[in-house]
Amino acid sequence: MCGIIGYIGGRRACEVIVKGLKRLEYRGYDSAGVVTGDGEGLHIRKGAGRIDPLVSELGLLNMPGNRGIGHTRWATHGVPNEINAHPHTDCSGKIALVHNGIIENYLELREELRKKGHTFKSDTDTEVIAHLIEEELKSSRNFEDAMRRALLRLKGSFALGIVYAGEPDRLYFVRNESPLVLGLGTGENFAASDVPAFLEYTRKAVFLDDGEYAVLTRESYTVKKLKTGEKVEKPVQEIDWTLDMAEKSGYPHFMLKEIYEQPRAIKDAIHGNSDLIPAVAEEIAKYSKVFFVAMGTSYHAALVGKYLFQRLAGKIALVEEASEFRYEAENILDGDSLVIAITQSGETADTLAAMKLAKRKGAKVMAIVNVVGSMATRVADITLYTHAGPEIGVAATKTYTTQLTVLTMLAMELARKLGRMREEELKTLEDEFMNVPQLVESVLSHAGGLEELAESLKDQRDFFYIGRGINVPTALEGALKLKEISYIHAEGLSAGELKHGPLALLEEGVPVVAITPSGRLFDKMVSNIEESKARGAMVVALSDSDELRETADVLVEMPPVNEALTPIVYVVPLQILAYHLAVLRGNDPDKPRNLAKSVTVE
Ligand code: BG6
Repeated sequence: MCGIIGYIGGRRACEVIVKGLKRLEYRGYDSAGVVTGDGEGLHIRKGAGRIDPLVSELGLLNMPGNRGIGHTRWATHGVPNEINAHPHTDCSGKIALVHNGIIENYLELREELRKKGHTFKSDTDTEVIAHLIEEELKSSRNFEDAMRRALLRLKGSFALGIVYAGEPDRLYFVRNESPLVLGLGTGENFAASDVPAFLEYTRKAVFLDDGEYAVLTRESYTVKKLKTGEKVEKPVQEIDWTLDMAEKSGYPHFMLKEIYEQPRAIKDAIHGNSDLIPAVAEEIAKYSKVFFVAMGTSYHAALVGKYLFQRLAGKIALVEEASEFRYEAENILDGDSLVIAITQSGETADTLAAMKLAKRKGAKVMAIVNVVGSMATRVADITLYTHAGPEIGVAATKTYTTQLTVLTMLAMELARKLGRMREEELKTLEDEFMNVPQLVESVLSHAGGLEELAESLKDQRDFFYIGRGINVPTALEGALKLKEISYIHAEGLSAGELKHGPLALLEEGVPVVAITPSGRLFDKMVSNIEESKARGAMVVALSDSDELRETADVLVEMPPVNEALTPIVYVVPLQILAYHLAVLRGNDPDKPRNLAKSVTVE
């Protein structure tokens, strides 16, 4: 996700815009740019890097004009550099715009426009939009009409800020699946991705809905439907958040905000990868030796990937912690090996080292990454992005479920290519997969009881998380989340392992969290729950089956979901439980002690 801020009024637009961009940096910070307009036309300055250094490097505060739009970028298409930074313009330079979201059909539109003589400067999906409006302008009555017709051809998510040199008295802002809100002043008006950008000037806000656009002038705003151009009446809301709360969209911590962003992030991971998966799955199918390497939460995603490859596609994959692989794998790597690195930051030293070892040994290297342009994307031969947006909380949440989303897409396509699943079975699974964002949404909306559960467990000193099959990694991830932010000791393990040692640790009241979806392993899990209870354990079961209401001490009700999709859905309550326990124990979940968001040293 990126940050957009627009202004039109009596002040110098660049001053308002630079301040607003600083307030929005948590939405993305790999590059930034500003366009302002005055009687002479449009002025654009942009570059790679964070806002602060760019202000002096580019002289952002010396830009003329009292209308303008700024953008701080979280790259999705095109590495973070000056050319790919927003704003982007059409051939004439009279149309400039900034974008937050993902245009799915940009490649075909770019091809069509190239054939009509348009030349492109950047690798971004965004630039296509400016040229599309320019093309429509040739046959439209006015700019607004051309803009509407162009935007109706876009597929995907887009919040846009658009300025046209031929209309010095207005700005346009469009919302479709990415947030945009208007700020209403006196003799001035604002628009932004989020309210922090203009909160110091006004608390009057109008939230746009999907498929709407606003025409902003100094004195007025008009909201219209993109499809029809008809006016829409919108309520004006009074924002009563503090600035700090506003940066977290009203959530007390970034981690909780990022947990609740998961339905949107999973949708973006699907949008951003659907066209790429077939070719990448084709590539994976060629290799007889497949290795996943990763660290931390990403390592747990890799374990889920292994289960998915094996169960859906019959594809064997080894999983190694990168910190081990980098010292132990040199004699098993060769030209017939594929190493798939999973790393949200793309900068984890151990993972990068494992990737470089693989390259030296002639293996093919793939990466599943969240940060566009990070080192891992430069080492890898093939990169798939998770499109989760910036994850500010140190403990991974939405980057984990989007990693699982990409891995599930790959496994399903591999199953198709290797003929390991009947087409109708695969189709059913794919339909259920497309419903995962809604399933996560429903888990989030029924998470109320978890805070109370956390309250009852906050003085416990040892937790056990147990699961079977594809949910062994879910148990490991649940335990890691708890350790990372609440500092309570927790152990994740396969439920079958309990009787081979860990059972000796169970005594009265020790919490055992059992990931127990109905299905072929359900009965096995029930017996593990019973053997835990026989030792006095306090069992919290996550399940879609009512059968556990008597057996478990607490039942966290889950929606029915295909076994292959349970890791994405079942991790969400574990994230929330860990979050509440951390807060109840007086910790800051966003900045847990001793840890870092990305460990770039060994
Ligand atoms: C840790 C983070 O430092 O690194 C974890 O706190 C993360 O959240 C792990 O899972 C691996 O990071 P990455 O960027 O390689 O996925």
